This record gives sequence, C-alpha cells and structure tokens, in this order.
Amino acid sequence: MAEIERVKFGIQGLDKALNGGIPKGNLVLLSGGAGTGKTTFSLQFLINGALLFGEKGLYISTEQSVQELRKAASTFGWKLEDLEKAGLIRIRYLNILKGDSFLKNIKVEAEDFQPKRIVIDSLTTLTDTMLVTDLKDDIAFSVVQVAETVNPFPRTERMIAKTILYHLIGALRDIDNATVMLTSELLEGEKGLSADAVSEFICDGVIIVALRDLARESVRSVRVRKMRNTAHSIASLLFDMTPSGVVVKTETVFEGEKISGIIPGQ
Ligand SMILES: Nc1ncnc2c1ncn2[C@@H]1O[C@H](COP(=O)(O)OP(=O)(O)OP(=O)(O)O)[C@@H](O)[C@H]1O
Ligand SMILES: [Mg+2]
Repeated sequence: MAEIERVKFGIQGLDKALNGGIPKGNLVLLSGGAGTGKTTFSLQFLINGALLFGEKGLYISTEQSVQELRKAASTFGWKLEDLEKAGLIRIRYLNILKGDSFLKNIKVEAEDFQPKRIVIDSLTTLTDTMLVTDLKDDIAFSVVQVAETVNPFPRTERMIAKTILYHLIGALRDIDNATVMLTSELLEGEKGLSADAVSEFICDGVIIVALRDLARESVRSVRVRKMRNTAHSIASLLFDMTPSGVVVKTETVFEGEKISGIIPGQ
C-alpha cells in the first residue's frame, strides 16, 4: 500500500502514537474539559506547522479574541504576530454575538488564504450559536427549513444540531488540501466524546485531552481515541504544559488509575 501523506503535530510522542502524524485531509476533533489544553494543542499544531514545516495555518476562534490568543501564545514564547506578518498564520475571530455568517466566512478565509492546517476553536460554540442565531445565509438553515416543509413533524434541538453539524463538517471537508482540527468542550463526567455526542462519529479522528486526579496528584493526558486511515496507539500519554508548550512524556503511559510502563514500540 502506498505510504499516505501525514500532517505532523511536531510533538514527539504524539506523532509517534499517530504512526507519524495525522493522515492529511482528516478532520479531527480535539475534545476535553475546561482548561485541559485544547487551545494550546491547537496553537502548537499551527505554530509547529508554520515553523517546522513551512505550512500555512488558519485559526478560527469563537472564544478568544486575536489579542487574547497572541497573549496566550506569548506565554509559551510563541510570537504569533511574527508568523502572521510572515503570512504563515492567519487568525480570525468570529463574534458569535454578532450572528456572523460563520460557514461562509470560514470558506472565504480558506479560499483566500489556502491553509494546509485549519483550527476551529471551538466547534461547540459555533454549532450552539448556529442553532440559536439567524442562519438565513447558511445552508444548514435552508436544509432544516426544507426538511420541515417536506416532512413536518416536531424536530428536537438535537436533530437540528445534527443537521447543522453535517453541513458544517461537510463544508470543511470540501476545503482542498487542508487538515482540520475542531475543539469540543466535554463536561465533567459526560459520556460521549464531544459536546454534541454526534461529531465524534462524523469526524475522521478524535483526540481526547484530560486532567486526571490520582491519589496524590493530578496529571494531564492525551489519547488518540480514533483516527481513520492509519494505525495508531490508543494509550493515554501523559504530558506537561512547559514554558515552551505541550511536551508529551514519552517514557510513561497512563493506565487505569496508575502511571506505568513504556509505550509499546518505544
Ligand atoms: N504559559 C503556560 N505555562 C504553563 N501552563 C499553562 C500556560 N498557559 C496555560 N497553562 C495551563 O493550561 C491551561 C489552559 O490551557 P488551554 O487554554 O489550552 O485549555 P483549554 O482546554 O483550551 O481551556 P478552555 O476550556 O478554557 O478553552 C491552564 O488552565 C493552565 O493550567
Ligand atoms: Mg480553549
């Protein structure tokens, strides 16, 4: 079988768990609770892409403003502004309160910038907002409307959310040559792998970041739960937030409630 093209995180241990990186073009959900590191992983994915591989990255933020993201990046020593000036990274803040036409905006930015990597932080806010705001410019709205006209029975919020997600994710899939990372907020104790419990089935990959409480300490872990088009490790890898960003501890894995062992194949 021909070797597939891969998009590397540039994070040792995680790329290894992915057998070399995310298969190019995959849509990957990055799910985790509050403060587990979703934004940091996403930023690092784009920054490493730019610095190590010369690949352009588009960051669509619905939560933190461009200024806030630059500030967060600077705490890890990353100079986002320099990369923006060099034309390697573009950050766009979509103001959910303004009810922007999100899908159209993302497509326009992607067509104009031609990124190899796209981050949407977060998918949860985007779909929640699309659910409650005026969606007349977006395809999802007309589809829901048409469906209701053709087959008028009471539609639950979840069904509409699902329709919106299919369209959003379908539209992102249509963007040529881009590998897409979508962050999703998991509530503590929640069963599914995403906030909507649907996108994990539609996306090509799911990476879970978590904070786990042990007897004496809390640890951070990252796990490739699903990744289409490649073999991968499903081990929970421990990682640290260091002054230079996420560092996966390659010598240990997290099993049940204890830390032990060495990643198979290391
Ligand atoms: N410069 C830094 N050095 C070390 N740790 C940091 C640094 N900046 C942030 N952190 C840690 O990372 C956590 C936040 O990470 P991040 O913003 O990536 O998480 P998130 O999952 O995106 O959070 P949210 O749910 O708020 O969107 C902080 O709570 C803090 O513990
Ligand atoms: Mg975040």
